[in-house]
Amino acid sequence: MRDTYILGIESSCDETAAAVVRSGEELISNVVYSQIATHQPYGGVVPELASREHLRAIVPVVRKALEDAGKSYDTIDAIAVTQGPGLAGALLVGLSYAKALAFAADKPLIAVNHLEGHIHAVLLEERQNANRELQFPVLALVVSGGHTHLYLAELRDSGWTYRNIGHTRDDAAGEAFDKVAKLLELGYPGGPSIDFLAQHGDPQAVKFPFAQIKHRDRNPQNRHAPDEHRTDFSYSGIKTAVLRYVEVHQMAESIQRRRDAMKALAKPKPDDYLAACDRQTIDLVASFQRAVVDDLVGKTLTAAIDRGVATLLVTGGVAANSELRATFERRAAEEGLAVLFPSRKLSTDNAAMIAAAAYPRFLAGEFAGTEVSSDPSLKLG
Ligand code: KG4
Ligand code: ZN
Repeated sequence: MRDTYILGIESSCDETAAAVVRSGEELISNVVYSQIATHQPYGGVVPELASREHLRAIVPVVRKALEDAGKSYDTIDAIAVTQGPGLAGALLVGLSYAKALAFAADKPLIAVNHLEGHIHAVLLEERQNANRELQFPVLALVVSGGHTHLYLAELRDSGWTYRNIGHTRDDAAGEAFDKVAKLLELGYPGGPSIDFLAQHGDPQAVKFPFAQIKHRDRNPQNRHAPDEHRTDFSYSGIKTAVLRYVEVHQMAESIQRRRDAMKALAKPKPDDYLAACDRQTIDLVASFQRAVVDDLVGKTLTAAIDRGVATLLVTGGVAANSELRATFERRAAEEGLAVLFPSRKLSTDNAAMIAAAAYPRFLAGEFAGTEVSSDPSLKLG
C-alpha cells in the first residue's frame, strides 16, 4: 500500500502542536510549542491567554512540522485536527486553521477526538518499534489534566471502536497533581514537579485512604444502564485531605517562605523546589503521589482482570509519572498482563497522536465536511 502522510494539528489546551506521521506508524516530525511560561504565573491554564497564544503560534508551528518532515501542503495526503474535548476558544483556533488549510490545499480534513489521540500515541509507537502483535481485549486508561477515563478498545474492519467503562466523578488525576502543587507552591504544572520531589520523600508518612465509590453517578450527562458494571474514580477528596493536613500541621508559613524564595528566582528548577522544601512537605508530596498511583493502578487492574483483558494501554500526561509507570509495570507483570505506555514525549499533548488516530479514518474515507465544528465536551465511546 502507498505511504500516507498526515499532518496533525492539536490545540485543545495549552500546547500548540503539529506533526507529520507516515501511515499511522512512523513519526516524521513533531513540533510542540508549550505555553507553560504564559500560564505559570497563574498556577493554571487561563483559557483566554491560551487562545491568544495558539493564534500566535499555530502558523509557525505547522510550518516547522512540514519543514522538519521535508513536506509541503502539496505532498501531504490529509490534514487531521483535534475536534474536542478541550477549551472552546483553543479548539476553535486549531479547527478553523485546519479547515482553511484543507480548503486552500484541497486536502481531506479528518476530525479527531483528543482522547482517541492519546490512545493512538501508544499504538503509533508500538507499530514504530515493531514490538509485537497487540493482544486483545485492550483496556486503555487515559489519565491527564482533564481526564481519567477507562475504555475498552476494539479494532474492527471499519476501524477502532471504544466503550467507556469508567471515568472520574470530579477532578482528573492530573488536576489533583496540579492543585496540590499549587497549594504547596511547588510550581506549574504540578505533575512533573511532584514526580521529582516524591522521589526524595517517604510515601508511607501520611495515610490517605481512598473511599470506594458505591453510589451511582447522578450526573445526567453520564447515564449508564442500571446493571452496567463501571469503574469510576474520584480525586477531589484527596486534594481536600492534603489541604486539611496543611492546616492541621500549620504549614502555611513554610509554604509562604517557599513562595518568596521561588519568586526571587527567574526560572525555578526542580532542585530549587527541593532545596526549598522541608521534610514534612516532601513526605506529604510522596504520600499524596503514592495514594493516587495506588488508586489508579488498583482500580484499573481490577477492571482489567474482571474483564479478561490481555493488554493495558496507559496514556495521557500523568502516564509520564515515574511511580505510576513502575507500579503498573510491576503489578501488571504479577497478573500476566502486558502494559504499554507512550514515550514521555508523546504522553503529554502532541499532534503526532492526532495524525496517528486519523490514519484508520483516512483509510475508511471518514472525512469531515466544511460544516464541522469544534466540541469542547466531545465524548469518546
Ligand atoms: O495530556 P496532557 O498534556 O493534557 C491534557 O490533556 O490534560 O496532561 C497534562 C497533565 C497535567 O495535569 C500535568 O500535571 C500532568 O499531566 N503530568 C504529570 C506528569 N507530567 C505531566 N503528572 C504526574 N507526573 C508527571 N510526570
Ligand atoms: Zn491531553
